[in-house]
Amino acid sequence: MRYLPPKPALPIHMAGYWRRWRALKQTLRQFFDTGGLGANITLPFKERAFSLCDQLTERGALAGAVNTIKKQPDGSLLGDNTDGIGLVSDLQRLDLLRQDSRVLLVGAGGAARGAILPLLAYGCKVVLTNRTFPRAQELVGFYHPMGDISALPLERLHTPDYDLIINATSTGVQGNFPPLPASLITSSVCCYDMYYQQGDTPFIAWGRRHGALRCADGLGMLVGQAASSFLLWHGVLPSVLPVLETLRAELTT
Ligand code: ATR
Repeated sequence: MRYLPPKPALPIHMAGYWRRWRALKQTLRQFFDTGGLGANITLPFKERAFSLCDQLTERGALAGAVNTIKKQPDGSLLGDNTDGIGLVSDLQRLDLLRQDSRVLLVGAGGAARGAILPLLAYGCKVVLTNRTFPRAQELVGFYHPMGDISALPLERLHTPDYDLIINATSTGVQGNFPPLPASLITSSVCCYDMYYQQGDTPFIAWGRRHGALRCADGLGMLVGQAASSFLLWHGVLPSVLPVLETLRAELTT
């Protein structure tokens, strides 16, 4: 979580917190009671944070997961989800997205939830797959009225029917990648990993190994979601590129 001063003056005082899932409510209460004004929530706490907010923005409510919390003047907590806008803006920056893109979204946790609606709103056709298939089906049931989305089990993914494959699982944290068949990759398929690390993530390495057209990790999404969180807190949208270049340089040295 990031701590903001009472006035939107810089420099901002920031602090990182790591708490167990069960302690999130208590941690948030303590943070906001002691002067915190804005918090950024990371995995795997986003769905839990959703349930702890007093009010939600429309995209926070539709995502079912919250990555941004703002303390309002009356003391109530407003939850938002800027992951989707961070993802779509990064995909646009990288020229990986068209309005008619066929997107295979892998994962059905909080990260995937935040991405679905912005992708559908952009015009993409989304196929959702997940290790635990009922979770994917449940999300499709919810988002089906909002766009072209369907679910397919991992074992039925054989043909290269996609322009873009997005990894929204937490496998990267485990040093792994989702069990997708290599037959999905052709020289016209792009791979995007919401995860990032120094060098290629396991999913990006998998995509490159099998000849994907272009691959990118989620560092740009991280900066993009943070920029939109900053907008909610301060009313100003910061430039993404200089921050992204600095972080990329730090990651590669
Ligand atoms: P987050 O908020 O980061 O999305 P999450 O809600 O725990 O975290 O979801 C993690 C996602 O990664 C899920 O889609 C999970 O699949 P399950 O629903 O089957 O648990 C997926 N995931 C995690 N480890 C995985 C693995 N080893 N192989 C495939 N998928 C995995």
